[in-house]
Amino acid sequence: MKLLSPDVRSRYRHPDPDRDDRPVVEFRAFTHGLQPATVPAMMEAFTEDWRRFGVDAWNEVPNHWKPQSGDAVGWWSLPTYLADAFVAPLLGAPTGTCILQPHVHWSVQCLLSAPEVADRGSEIVVTDGEFPSVLHSVQQWSSLIDLQPRIVPSDEHGRPDIEALTDAIGPETAMTAVSHVGFTTGALLTDRDVRTLAEATHRHGGLFLLDGYHSASTMPLNVEDLDVDVFTGGLLKEASGSSGNAFVYIRDGLEITPRLTGWFGDADPFGFRPEPEPHQDVRRRFLGGTTSVASMYHAVEGVDILLDVGLDAVRAHCLTLTDRALEHAADLDLSVRSPLPRTERSAMLLLEVDHAHALCEHLKTRGIYTDSRKNRYLRMAPFVWNTAAEVDRAFDAIRSALASGEHLDSEIQDTAGPVT
Ligand SMILES: Cc1ncc(COP(=O)(O)O)c(C=O)c1O
Repeated sequence: MKLLSPDVRSRYRHPDPDRDDRPVVEFRAFTHGLQPATVPAMMEAFTEDWRRFGVDAWNEVPNHWKPQSGDAVGWWSLPTYLADAFVAPLLGAPTGTCILQPHVHWSVQCLLSAPEVADRGSEIVVTDGEFPSVLHSVQQWSSLIDLQPRIVPSDEHGRPDIEALTDAIGPETAMTAVSHVGFTTGALLTDRDVRTLAEATHRHGGLFLLDGYHSASTMPLNVEDLDVDVFTGGLLKEASGSSGNAFVYIRDGLEITPRLTGWFGDADPFGFRPEPEPHQDVRRRFLGGTTSVASMYHAVEGVDILLDVGLDAVRAHCLTLTDRALEHAADLDLSVRSPLPRTERSAMLLLEVDHAHALCEHLKTRGIYTDSRKNRYLRMAPFVWNTAAEVDRAFDAIRSALASGEHLDSEIQDTAGPVT
Protein backbone atom coordinates (compact mmCIF):
# COMPACT_ATOMS: atom_id res chain seq x y z
CA MET A 1 0.00 0.00 0.00
CA LYS A 2 1.35 3.38 -0.99
CA LEU A 3 0.03 5.62 1.73
CA LEU A 4 1.35 8.94 2.98
CA SER A 5 2.90 9.16 6.40
CA PRO A 6 0.40 9.97 9.20
CA ASP A 7 2.41 13.19 9.76
CA VAL A 8 0.59 14.69 6.76
CA ARG A 9 -2.71 14.35 8.62
CA SER A 10 -1.33 16.44 11.45
CA ARG A 11 -0.68 19.34 9.07
CA TYR A 12 -4.43 19.96 8.93
CA ARG A 13 -6.86 21.14 11.60
CA HIS A 14 -9.67 18.67 12.09
CA PRO A 15 -13.36 19.23 12.86
CA ASP A 16 -14.72 18.46 16.33
CA PRO A 17 -15.01 14.73 17.11
CA ASP A 18 -18.29 12.86 16.64
CA ARG A 19 -20.73 12.15 19.46
CA ASP A 20 -18.72 9.06 20.54
CA ASP A 21 -15.62 11.22 20.70
CA ARG A 22 -14.09 9.66 17.61
CA PRO A 23 -12.41 11.85 14.97
CA VAL A 24 -14.86 12.60 12.18
CA VAL A 25 -14.13 11.24 8.73
CA GLU A 26 -14.09 14.05 6.16
CA PHE A 27 -14.49 12.67 2.64
CA ARG A 28 -15.65 15.91 0.96
CA ALA A 29 -12.40 17.29 -0.41
CA PHE A 30 -14.33 17.88 -3.66
CA THR A 31 -16.28 20.65 -1.95
CA HIS A 32 -14.02 22.22 0.64
CA GLY A 33 -10.73 20.88 1.98
CA LEU A 34 -9.75 20.65 5.64
CA GLN A 35 -8.07 23.71 7.07
CA PRO A 36 -4.25 23.64 6.97
CA ALA A 37 -2.74 24.11 10.44
CA THR A 38 -0.95 27.28 9.33
CA VAL A 39 -4.12 29.15 8.31
CA PRO A 40 -4.84 30.89 11.65
CA ALA A 41 -1.30 32.34 11.69
CA MET A 42 -1.65 33.49 8.09
CA MET A 43 -4.93 35.25 8.81
CA GLU A 44 -3.33 36.89 11.81
CA ALA A 45 -0.50 37.96 9.50
CA PHE A 46 -3.09 39.64 7.27
CA THR A 47 -4.62 41.64 10.11
CA GLU A 48 -1.16 42.57 11.35
CA ASP A 49 0.13 43.63 7.91
CA TRP A 50 -2.98 45.74 7.45
CA ARG A 51 -2.46 47.36 10.86
CA ARG A 52 1.28 47.83 10.54
CA PHE A 53 1.63 48.91 6.94
CA GLY A 54 -1.80 50.19 5.96
CA VAL A 55 -1.84 51.42 2.37
CA ASP A 56 1.87 50.65 1.97
CA ALA A 57 1.06 46.93 2.22
CA TRP A 58 0.06 47.16 -1.45
CA ASN A 59 3.74 47.73 -2.20
CA GLU A 60 5.43 45.45 0.31
CA VAL A 61 4.67 43.10 3.18
CA PRO A 62 6.89 40.46 4.80
CA ASN A 63 7.02 37.36 2.64
CA HIS A 64 4.93 34.96 4.77
CA TRP A 65 4.51 32.50 1.90
CA LYS A 66 8.18 31.83 1.07
CA PRO A 67 9.98 33.44 3.98
CA GLN A 68 13.37 31.94 3.09
CA SER A 69 13.29 33.12 -0.51
CA GLY A 70 14.15 36.76 0.01
CA ASP A 71 11.55 37.61 -2.66
CA ALA A 72 9.87 40.98 -2.20
CA VAL A 73 6.09 40.78 -2.25
CA GLY A 74 3.21 43.20 -1.76
CA TRP A 75 -0.55 42.98 -2.06
CA TRP A 76 -0.31 44.28 -5.62
CA SER A 77 1.92 41.45 -6.78
CA LEU A 78 0.34 38.60 -4.77
CA PRO A 79 -1.92 37.24 -7.55
CA THR A 80 1.05 36.62 -9.84
CA TYR A 81 3.66 35.90 -7.15
CA LEU A 82 1.59 33.16 -5.48
CA ALA A 83 0.59 31.75 -8.85
CA ASP A 84 4.23 31.51 -9.97
CA ALA A 85 5.44 30.06 -6.70
CA PHE A 86 2.60 27.64 -5.92
CA VAL A 87 0.08 27.20 -8.75
CA ALA A 88 2.54 26.79 -11.65
CA PRO A 89 4.23 23.77 -9.94
CA LEU A 90 0.79 22.16 -9.48
CA LEU A 91 0.26 22.37 -13.24
CA GLY A 92 3.81 21.83 -14.44
CA ALA A 93 3.48 25.31 -15.97
CA PRO A 94 6.28 27.78 -16.62
CA THR A 95 6.67 30.95 -14.59
CA GLY A 96 4.64 33.84 -15.96
CA THR A 97 1.63 31.85 -17.19
CA CYS A 98 -0.68 31.61 -14.14
CA ILE A 99 -2.58 34.11 -12.02
CA LEU A 100 -4.93 33.86 -9.06
CA GLN A 101 -8.58 34.51 -9.82
CA PRO A 102 -11.68 34.89 -7.65
CA HIS A 103 -13.42 31.88 -9.25
CA VAL A 104 -13.49 29.88 -12.47
CA HIS A 105 -16.60 31.74 -13.56
CA TRP A 106 -14.64 34.98 -13.80
CA SER A 107 -11.81 33.43 -15.86
CA VAL A 108 -14.29 31.94 -18.33
CA GLN A 109 -16.18 35.22 -18.58
CA CYS A 110 -12.92 37.06 -19.32
CA LEU A 111 -12.01 34.56 -21.97
CA LEU A 112 -15.38 34.77 -23.69
CA SER A 113 -15.15 38.55 -23.67
CA ALA A 114 -11.91 38.45 -25.68
CA PRO A 115 -12.31 39.05 -29.45
CA GLU A 116 -9.43 36.63 -30.07
CA VAL A 117 -11.81 33.78 -29.16
CA ALA A 118 -14.71 34.78 -31.42
CA ASP A 119 -12.24 35.57 -34.23
CA ARG A 120 -11.37 31.89 -34.40
CA GLY A 121 -14.82 30.57 -35.25
CA SER A 122 -18.49 30.68 -34.40
CA GLU A 123 -18.89 27.70 -32.08
CA ILE A 124 -17.76 26.64 -28.64
CA VAL A 125 -17.74 22.89 -28.25
CA VAL A 126 -18.64 21.68 -24.75
CA THR A 127 -20.21 18.60 -23.24
CA ASP A 128 -23.52 18.68 -21.40
CA GLY A 129 -21.60 17.63 -18.27
CA GLU A 130 -19.57 20.81 -17.83
CA PHE A 131 -19.82 22.77 -14.60
CA PRO A 132 -22.17 25.79 -14.91
CA SER A 133 -19.25 28.22 -14.67
CA VAL A 134 -18.40 26.97 -18.17
CA LEU A 135 -21.66 25.59 -19.53
CA HIS A 136 -23.92 28.47 -18.51
CA SER A 137 -21.35 31.14 -19.35
CA VAL A 138 -21.00 29.86 -22.90
CA GLN A 139 -24.77 29.96 -23.39
CA GLN A 140 -25.19 33.38 -21.82
CA TRP A 141 -22.58 34.99 -24.06
CA SER A 142 -24.13 33.42 -27.15
CA SER A 143 -26.97 35.92 -27.06
CA LEU A 144 -24.48 38.78 -27.01
CA ILE A 145 -21.79 37.76 -29.49
CA ASP A 146 -21.56 35.56 -32.53
CA LEU A 147 -20.40 32.47 -30.66
CA GLN A 148 -22.83 29.59 -30.33
CA PRO A 149 -22.50 26.68 -27.93
CA ARG A 150 -22.26 23.26 -29.51
CA ILE A 151 -23.29 21.02 -26.65
CA VAL A 152 -22.25 17.40 -27.12
CA PRO A 153 -24.25 14.85 -25.08
CA SER A 154 -22.26 12.71 -22.65
CA ASP A 155 -22.19 8.93 -23.10
CA GLU A 156 -24.49 6.53 -21.23
CA HIS A 157 -22.19 6.70 -18.17
CA GLY A 158 -22.34 10.49 -18.05
CA ARG A 159 -18.75 10.78 -19.34
CA PRO A 160 -17.46 12.80 -22.29
CA ASP A 161 -18.01 11.02 -25.59
CA ILE A 162 -14.61 11.57 -27.16
CA GLU A 163 -15.65 10.40 -30.60
CA ALA A 164 -18.73 12.64 -30.66
CA LEU A 165 -16.63 15.57 -29.41
CA THR A 166 -14.00 15.01 -32.06
CA ASP A 167 -16.72 14.85 -34.69
CA ALA A 168 -18.22 18.12 -33.39
CA ILE A 169 -14.89 19.94 -33.59
CA GLY A 170 -14.44 21.50 -37.02
CA PRO A 171 -13.65 24.66 -38.97
CA GLU A 172 -16.27 26.61 -36.98
CA THR A 173 -14.72 25.73 -33.61
CA ALA A 174 -13.48 28.80 -31.78
CA MET A 175 -12.86 26.90 -28.59
CA THR A 176 -13.36 23.48 -27.03
CA ALA A 177 -14.00 23.54 -23.28
CA VAL A 178 -14.10 20.30 -21.29
CA SER A 179 -13.60 19.17 -17.71
CA HIS A 180 -10.52 17.15 -16.88
CA VAL A 181 -12.55 15.36 -14.18
CA GLY A 182 -16.34 15.21 -14.46
CA PHE A 183 -17.84 16.56 -11.26
CA THR A 184 -20.88 14.25 -11.54
CA THR A 185 -18.90 11.13 -12.38
CA GLY A 186 -15.37 11.48 -11.03
CA ALA A 187 -14.18 10.32 -14.47
CA LEU A 188 -10.71 11.58 -15.41
CA LEU A 189 -9.93 12.15 -19.09
CA THR A 190 -6.88 10.12 -20.02
CA ASP A 191 -3.86 12.04 -21.31
CA ARG A 192 -4.54 10.49 -24.68
CA ASP A 193 -8.10 11.81 -24.75
CA VAL A 194 -6.98 15.29 -23.69
CA ARG A 195 -4.37 15.35 -26.45
CA THR A 196 -6.85 14.04 -29.03
CA LEU A 197 -9.27 16.89 -28.24
CA ALA A 198 -6.52 19.51 -28.09
CA GLU A 199 -5.07 18.36 -31.39
CA ALA A 200 -8.45 18.29 -33.15
CA THR A 201 -9.23 21.79 -31.86
CA HIS A 202 -5.84 23.19 -32.85
CA ARG A 203 -6.08 21.64 -36.30
CA HIS A 204 -9.02 23.95 -36.89
CA GLY A 205 -7.41 26.97 -35.28
CA GLY A 206 -9.46 26.84 -32.07
CA LEU A 207 -8.42 27.22 -28.44
CA PHE A 208 -8.46 24.32 -26.01
CA LEU A 209 -9.71 25.03 -22.47
CA LEU A 210 -9.37 22.34 -19.82
CA ASP A 211 -11.33 22.88 -16.60
CA GLY A 212 -9.15 21.00 -14.14
CA TYR A 213 -10.79 21.93 -10.87
CA HIS A 214 -10.71 18.32 -9.65
CA SER A 215 -7.44 17.22 -11.20
CA ALA A 216 -5.06 20.00 -10.15
CA SER A 217 -3.84 19.30 -6.59
CA THR A 218 -4.65 15.60 -6.79
CA MET A 219 -2.04 14.40 -9.30
CA PRO A 220 1.03 15.64 -11.19
CA LEU A 221 0.11 17.58 -14.33
CA ASN A 222 1.96 19.03 -17.25
CA VAL A 223 -0.25 21.50 -19.09
CA GLU A 224 2.36 22.13 -21.78
CA ASP A 225 2.68 18.45 -22.50
CA LEU A 226 -1.09 18.17 -22.71
CA ASP A 227 -1.14 21.01 -25.23
CA VAL A 228 -3.67 23.04 -23.26
CA ASP A 229 -4.18 26.73 -24.12
CA VAL A 230 -6.13 27.71 -21.03
CA PHE A 231 -6.47 25.72 -17.80
CA THR A 232 -8.93 26.76 -15.09
CA GLY A 233 -9.09 25.49 -11.55
CA GLY A 234 -9.35 26.50 -7.96
CA LEU A 235 -7.77 26.11 -4.57
CA LEU A 236 -10.94 25.84 -2.51
CA LYS A 237 -11.31 22.08 -2.56
CA GLU A 238 -8.53 19.51 -2.59
CA ALA A 239 -5.97 22.31 -2.19
CA SER A 240 -7.68 23.56 1.01
CA GLY A 241 -7.36 27.20 -0.02
CA SER A 242 -10.89 28.24 0.91
CA SER A 243 -13.17 30.42 -1.16
CA GLY A 244 -12.10 33.35 -3.31
CA ASN A 245 -9.04 31.48 -4.52
CA ALA A 246 -9.09 30.11 -8.03
CA PHE A 247 -6.56 30.42 -10.85
CA VAL A 248 -6.11 30.45 -14.59
CA TYR A 249 -3.20 29.32 -16.77
CA ILE A 250 -2.74 30.95 -20.17
CA ARG A 251 -0.30 29.37 -22.56
CA ASP A 252 2.86 31.39 -23.03
CA GLY A 253 2.57 33.55 -26.14
CA LEU A 254 -1.22 33.37 -26.44
CA GLU A 255 -2.57 36.83 -27.22
CA ILE A 256 -5.87 37.44 -25.43
CA THR A 257 -7.38 40.81 -24.59
CA PRO A 258 -10.46 40.26 -22.44
CA ARG A 259 -12.91 43.15 -22.57
CA LEU A 260 -13.88 42.28 -19.01
CA THR A 261 -10.47 43.39 -17.87
CA GLY A 262 -10.38 46.00 -15.12
CA TRP A 263 -8.00 48.72 -14.08
CA PHE A 264 -5.87 46.19 -12.20
CA GLY A 265 -5.19 44.66 -15.61
CA ASP A 266 -4.30 47.94 -17.28
CA ALA A 267 -0.83 48.69 -18.61
CA ASP A 268 -0.62 51.87 -16.54
CA PRO A 269 -3.02 51.46 -13.63
CA PHE A 270 -1.86 54.52 -11.74
CA GLY A 271 -1.59 56.73 -14.80
CA PHE A 272 -5.39 56.89 -14.79
CA ARG A 273 -5.30 57.68 -18.49
CA PRO A 274 -8.65 58.18 -20.20
CA GLU A 275 -8.06 55.29 -22.62
CA PRO A 276 -7.55 51.72 -21.37
CA GLU A 277 -4.49 49.80 -22.51
CA PRO A 278 -4.03 46.07 -21.91
CA HIS A 279 -1.19 45.12 -19.57
CA GLN A 280 1.80 43.64 -21.42
CA ASP A 281 1.64 40.61 -19.09
CA VAL A 282 -1.34 38.76 -20.63
CA ARG A 283 -2.35 36.98 -17.41
CA ARG A 284 -2.79 40.31 -15.57
CA ARG A 285 -5.50 41.21 -18.07
CA PHE A 286 -7.64 38.62 -16.25
CA LEU A 287 -7.83 40.96 -13.26
CA GLY A 288 -10.85 43.18 -12.74
CA GLY A 289 -11.05 45.82 -10.05
CA THR A 290 -9.24 45.86 -6.71
CA THR A 291 -8.25 42.32 -5.78
CA SER A 292 -9.51 40.64 -2.60
CA VAL A 293 -6.37 40.40 -0.50
CA ALA A 294 -7.50 38.60 2.67
CA SER A 295 -8.29 35.33 0.87
CA MET A 296 -4.81 35.25 -0.68
CA TYR A 297 -3.21 34.99 2.74
CA HIS A 298 -4.52 31.45 3.16
CA ALA A 299 -4.72 30.58 -0.56
CA VAL A 300 -1.69 28.34 -0.85
CA GLU A 301 -1.17 26.84 2.60
CA GLY A 302 -2.71 23.58 1.41
CA VAL A 303 -0.77 23.69 -1.86
CA ASP A 304 2.40 24.04 0.19
CA ILE A 305 1.60 20.76 1.97
CA LEU A 306 0.78 18.96 -1.28
CA LEU A 307 3.93 20.15 -3.06
CA ASP A 308 6.01 19.29 -0.01
CA VAL A 309 4.60 15.76 0.07
CA GLY A 310 4.89 15.47 -3.72
CA LEU A 311 2.03 15.18 -6.18
CA ASP A 312 3.09 11.65 -7.17
CA ALA A 313 2.73 10.59 -3.55
CA VAL A 314 -0.63 12.39 -3.27
CA ARG A 315 -1.90 10.54 -6.33
CA ALA A 316 -0.62 7.18 -5.06
CA HIS A 317 -2.29 7.73 -1.67
CA CYS A 318 -5.64 8.59 -3.26
CA LEU A 319 -5.50 5.63 -5.63
CA THR A 320 -4.69 3.26 -2.77
CA LEU A 321 -7.64 4.53 -0.75
CA THR A 322 -10.05 4.44 -3.69
CA ASP A 323 -8.82 0.89 -4.50
CA ARG A 324 -9.82 -0.02 -0.97
CA ALA A 325 -13.17 1.73 -1.24
CA LEU A 326 -13.85 -0.09 -4.50
CA GLU A 327 -13.08 -3.45 -2.88
CA HIS A 328 -15.64 -2.67 -0.18
CA ALA A 329 -18.15 -1.52 -2.80
CA ALA A 330 -17.68 -4.79 -4.71
CA ASP A 331 -18.21 -6.75 -1.48
CA LEU A 332 -21.47 -4.90 -0.99
CA ASP A 333 -22.46 -5.43 -4.61
CA LEU A 334 -22.75 -1.68 -5.19
CA SER A 335 -22.56 -0.29 -8.71
CA VAL A 336 -19.93 2.35 -9.20
CA ARG A 337 -20.64 5.36 -11.43
CA SER A 338 -16.97 6.35 -11.59
CA PRO A 339 -14.56 4.54 -13.89
CA LEU A 340 -12.66 1.63 -12.32
CA PRO A 341 -9.34 1.76 -14.26
CA ARG A 342 -6.77 3.80 -12.38
CA THR A 343 -5.90 5.83 -15.49
CA GLU A 344 -9.49 7.11 -15.63
CA ARG A 345 -10.08 7.46 -11.91
CA SER A 346 -9.85 10.79 -10.13
CA ALA A 347 -9.70 11.35 -6.38
CA MET A 348 -13.51 11.11 -6.13
CA LEU A 349 -15.81 8.10 -6.33
CA LEU A 350 -19.53 7.94 -6.91
CA LEU A 351 -21.33 4.85 -5.70
CA GLU A 352 -24.86 4.00 -6.76
CA VAL A 353 -27.23 3.44 -3.84
CA ASP A 354 -30.97 3.77 -3.36
CA HIS A 355 -31.99 6.54 -0.97
CA ALA A 356 -28.56 8.14 -1.21
CA HIS A 357 -29.70 11.31 0.62
CA ALA A 358 -30.88 9.29 3.61
CA LEU A 359 -27.68 7.26 3.66
CA CYS A 360 -25.59 10.42 3.51
CA GLU A 361 -27.52 11.95 6.44
CA HIS A 362 -27.24 8.73 8.42
CA LEU A 363 -23.47 8.58 7.89
CA LYS A 364 -23.25 12.14 9.16
CA THR A 365 -24.78 11.04 12.45
CA ARG A 366 -21.94 8.50 12.63
CA GLY A 367 -19.35 11.24 12.05
CA ILE A 368 -18.70 10.25 8.42
CA TYR A 369 -19.06 13.05 5.87
CA THR A 370 -19.85 12.24 2.23
CA ASP A 371 -22.40 13.81 -0.09
CA SER A 372 -25.26 12.57 -2.19
CA ARG A 373 -26.60 13.47 -5.61
CA LYS A 374 -29.99 12.93 -7.20
CA ASN A 375 -30.84 10.59 -4.29
CA ARG A 376 -28.98 7.97 -6.30
CA TYR A 377 -25.27 8.53 -5.83
CA LEU A 378 -23.08 8.67 -2.76
CA ARG A 379 -20.00 10.75 -3.50
CA MET A 380 -16.78 10.45 -1.52
CA ALA A 381 -13.15 11.46 -1.94
CA PRO A 382 -10.66 9.94 0.48
CA PHE A 383 -7.84 12.50 0.40
CA VAL A 384 -4.42 13.07 1.96
CA TRP A 385 -5.79 13.52 5.50
CA ASN A 386 -7.75 10.24 5.34
CA THR A 387 -6.53 6.80 6.34
CA ALA A 388 -7.32 3.25 5.25
CA ALA A 389 -8.97 2.72 8.66
CA GLU A 390 -11.35 5.59 7.91
CA VAL A 391 -12.34 4.01 4.60
CA ASP A 392 -13.03 0.75 6.46
CA ARG A 393 -15.03 2.58 9.13
CA ALA A 394 -17.16 4.29 6.48
CA PHE A 395 -17.93 1.05 4.69
CA ASP A 396 -18.71 -0.74 7.96
CA ALA A 397 -21.31 1.95 8.60
CA ILE A 398 -22.63 1.70 5.02
CA ARG A 399 -22.82 -2.10 5.26
CA SER A 400 -24.74 -2.03 8.50
CA ALA A 401 -27.13 0.70 7.29
CA LEU A 402 -27.89 -1.12 4.05
CA ALA A 403 -28.43 -4.38 5.92
CA SER A 404 -30.75 -2.93 8.57
CA GLY A 405 -32.38 -0.08 6.64
CA GLU A 406 -31.78 2.12 9.69
CA HIS A 407 -30.77 5.04 7.47
CA LEU A 408 -34.24 5.23 5.92
CA ASP A 409 -35.52 7.06 8.99
CA SER A 410 -32.89 9.80 8.69
CA GLU A 411 -34.15 13.30 8.46
CA ILE A 412 -33.10 14.65 5.09
CA GLN A 413 -31.66 18.13 5.22
CA ASP A 414 -31.91 20.59 2.40
CA THR A 415 -29.63 19.04 -0.19
CA ALA A 416 -29.30 22.20 -2.22
CA GLY A 417 -26.31 23.06 -0.03
CA PRO A 418 -22.66 23.24 -0.94
CA VAL A 419 -22.27 20.02 -2.86
CA THR A 420 -20.43 21.11 -6.00
C1 LIG B 1 -15.41 21.18 -12.77
C2 LIG B 1 -15.66 22.41 -11.94
N1 LIG B 1 -15.34 23.63 -12.44
C3 LIG B 1 -15.54 24.75 -11.72
C4 LIG B 1 -16.05 24.68 -10.43
C5 LIG B 1 -16.20 25.92 -9.59
O1 LIG B 1 -16.41 27.04 -10.31
P1 LIG B 1 -16.38 28.50 -9.64
O2 LIG B 1 -14.98 28.72 -9.19
O3 LIG B 1 -16.80 29.40 -10.72
O4 LIG B 1 -17.34 28.48 -8.48
C6 LIG B 1 -16.38 23.45 -9.89
C7 LIG B 1 -16.94 23.38 -8.53
O5 LIG B 1 -17.19 22.36 -8.00
C8 LIG B 1 -16.19 22.29 -10.66
O6 LIG B 1 -16.50 21.09 -10.17
